[in-house]
Amino acid sequence: MSTTPMKIALFQCRWCLYSPEDQAWVDNDLPKNIHLVKVPCTGRIDPLFILNAVQGGADGVMVSGCLPEKCHFKEGNLAARRQLAEFSQFLDYIGYAQDRVRFVWLDLQDRGRIQQELAAFERTLETLGQAQALATRAPIAMGGAHD
Ligand code: FES
Repeated sequence: MSTTPMKIALFQCRWCLYSPEDQAWVDNDLPKNIHLVKVPCTGRIDPLFILNAVQGGADGVMVSGCLPEKCHFKEGNLAARRQLAEFSQFLDYIGYAQDRVRFVWLDLQDRGRIQQELAAFERTLETLGQAQALATRAPIAMGGAHD
């Protein structure tokens, strides 16, 4: 039985040091169902970026950031995780399950971990199935001019 691969948007802080081999894999050999977006820090991820990925058809969104004490912008990663946790609750409320959004900390010594994290995330998404398209807002009915 063939299944459609889950579409994943991967937001990667460009400072979260995967090992060089892992970074080469991310840069050159990511499976086609994973869309990479590099950001200068996870703290720079606007929730609208996540919403855009969701509306673009991502079955899941993974954010990969520096370890808590290693963010180049002090606590951008901590703020990002907090904001993402809150935003994922909002997404859950509007029909995009919270488990479809995942935040991971990665560092240079975590060789091979990005592949493991993505594989584990993909298995989670497979149990959830493909994400349903979120309802779009109906156009607002505009009344005519009143006398
Ligand atoms: Fe990597 Fe802030 S610089 S998460």
